[in-house]
Amino acid sequence: MIKKIIAANWKDNGSKEFIKDYFDYFKNNLNTEHEIIFFPPDLYINQISTYIDNNNFYLGGQKLNANVGDKPFTSGNSSEMFFDSGCHYILVGHSELRISTSYSTSNDLYYANDLQIIFCVGEDKSDKESNNTKDKIIRQLRELCNKANYPKIKPKKVIVAYEPVWAIGTGYTPELKDISFIHRFIKTYVSENHPFLKEKDIMVLYGGSVNSKNIKEILRTPYVDGVLIGGASLDAKKFTKICNLKI
Ligand code: 13P
Repeated sequence: MIKKIIAANWKDNGSKEFIKDYFDYFKNNLNTEHEIIFFPPDLYINQISTYIDNNNFYLGGQKLNANVGDKPFTSGNSSEMFFDSGCHYILVGHSELRISTSYSTSNDLYYANDLQIIFCVGEDKSDKESNNTKDKIIRQLRELCNKANYPKIKPKKVIVAYEPVWAIGTGYTPELKDISFIHRFIKTYVSENHPFLKEKDIMVLYGGSVNSKNIKEILRTPYVDGVLIGGASLDAKKFTKICNLKI
């Protein structure tokens, strides 16, 4: 049995009715050996948490409100609130947030506290075309490896999600050998540069146009510890089938 992480990033999708139908099916048909994590919109975290029993899946937040420090701040959610609502994970650095100039991965890392970070990295199309993939990823990983970002809690592990921007929602994926190469590179870079973590503490997920057809070969690729799925996680039947795969 090989256990992988299968994470579902719902982005801004869902409704109370959708969630009821989805989890009625999912709970009755889930038979998995993997670790399943859902990242729903914040407003639905509490509703989904009522479906968890026996740790059959975990919850995570999509975005921390990290602009606050200790001052009151209108809107947003702190790591303590996510934890209190049943979340164990937090996404940091998703490419859809990185395009905003006010977004800062180091703020998120600073305030993540007890939540397990899933740190997203990946090159865009122009980086890829100009052979700058590794340089871009190194620049992004520097924040993850900056000791100043961990003022209170020394992380014991980290999950990095390699999500090439040009592969998100497009139907295109890198060649498997390229996924493997970048995952290995990420593990080596983080283990050599992170102030607290060794190679065994670093997991790397792949994200970008993962679906029920390509999932098996991606999960069987060397250095792939799991996947972060967007669009294909919104279909309860397809996603349950993905979760039930034996690798
Ligand atoms: P898709 O699976 O829809 O390409 O989205 C990937 C993603 O952005 C997950 O965070």
